[in-house]
Amino acid sequence: MPGIVIVGVQWGDEGKGKATDLLGERTDWVVKFNGGNNAGHTVVVGDEKYALHLLPSGILSPGVTPVIGNGVVIDLEVLFSELEALSARGIDISRLKVSANAHIITQYHRTLDKVTERFLGKRNIGTTGRGIGPAYADKINRVGIRVQDLFDENILRQKVDGALDQKNHLLVKVFNRRAVTVDEIVEELLVYAERLRPMVADTGHLIAEALGRGEVVVFEGGQATMLDIDHGTYPFVTSSTATAAGAASGSGVGPGSLDRIVGIVKAYTTRVGSGPFPTELFDEQGEWLRKQGFEFGTTTGRPRRVGWYDAPITRYATRINGITDLVLTKLDILTGLEQVPVCVAYDVDGVRFDEVPVNQTEFHHATPILEYFPGWSEDISTARTFEDLPQSAQDYVLALEKMSNTRISVIGVGPERDQVIVRHDLLD
Ligand code: IMP
Repeated sequence: MPGIVIVGVQWGDEGKGKATDLLGERTDWVVKFNGGNNAGHTVVVGDEKYALHLLPSGILSPGVTPVIGNGVVIDLEVLFSELEALSARGIDISRLKVSANAHIITQYHRTLDKVTERFLGKRNIGTTGRGIGPAYADKINRVGIRVQDLFDENILRQKVDGALDQKNHLLVKVFNRRAVTVDEIVEELLVYAERLRPMVADTGHLIAEALGRGEVVVFEGGQATMLDIDHGTYPFVTSSTATAAGAASGSGVGPGSLDRIVGIVKAYTTRVGSGPFPTELFDEQGEWLRKQGFEFGTTTGRPRRVGWYDAPITRYATRINGITDLVLTKLDILTGLEQVPVCVAYDVDGVRFDEVPVNQTEFHHATPILEYFPGWSEDISTARTFEDLPQSAQDYVLALEKMSNTRISVIGVGPERDQVIVRHDLLD
């Protein structure tokens, strides 16, 4: 059972590292299949701490082949600065494979991301400003630049010319910015071509061969279900497929290769950027949760919006992704609450909704119907079996499990790698 997908259930930052850590040495390949350097995760190996934005976490494990799949958008400057920083710290970066079909983020994508947000004013998405949306827009508009284009200067020049055709009008006439020349972009990209060349491969083929040999391939999803371009809270979403289906299309393997779908869900909810968030807290309980959970963005440093656990969202994510196992993270953060609120349904203008409403306006108007579970005050950070947890914490987990329509296989009780309770092995 070698193909394992890891996806976020909520709006990102659920702590996917807990699952990748658990699979640890049993992993042979880690594939990033969507997004770009809008993600951010801190990986701790021994006493060393690494902040990665673009590279798959597998780059830090000597036995793993990390892959940047075709569904990713790559900012080459970021790619090489992350690689150089790791190399300087003694990490072997030579195993990285990059899909020839992945798209490239250029300076005009970053510029367009920022000016578009500014023009949107109070309707802005709250993007990370890394050029993600404009790069995917070019991909869909068929004016994107792909990794393979870097190895044929003639083609590259033609493609950049095509990409800039309309954009320069937009930049100059609408956004009051300077025009960008083909030469400057081509020059900027070609700087990386020779360093990139040895990493470039038909990654879909490599992954298929690995799966055929029975190796363990982990498909690491960036962002999360509620930020997915199709299934998230559109338009307040990222521009890629952040759900499990994206693991197939974003890495070039058939959906039948995805044997296990692991959803990562926090014991409460957070969100960065704009958009609906029914359980959001604006009071001192929210402040408390943000502080306890240290909820500040890894990429942007922005304080995250925080709220209670939202059961309909987990149920929705279970359905959309076909989740087989949940990893419930940060349960320890809730320690000390007398009562733990859980959103079990929504009230939308006086009507009860048990599931996430398909209509965006209704979701914007949704307020949570909360159920209260008895809290616990004991330190749970040393619990290593389910039975080590206080009864009320056990009951809370069992209640969430029942509401989610899938099993909670792993529970995180602290930031360290070993601070987990494994109820079902993710590889069994
Ligand atoms: P973009 O991905 O930069 O276009 O941003 C679109 C939305 O996704 C914004 O609300 C971002 O805050 C959010 N977003 C993007 N990446 C992440 C992430 O890794 N964690 C949480 N939110 C994210």
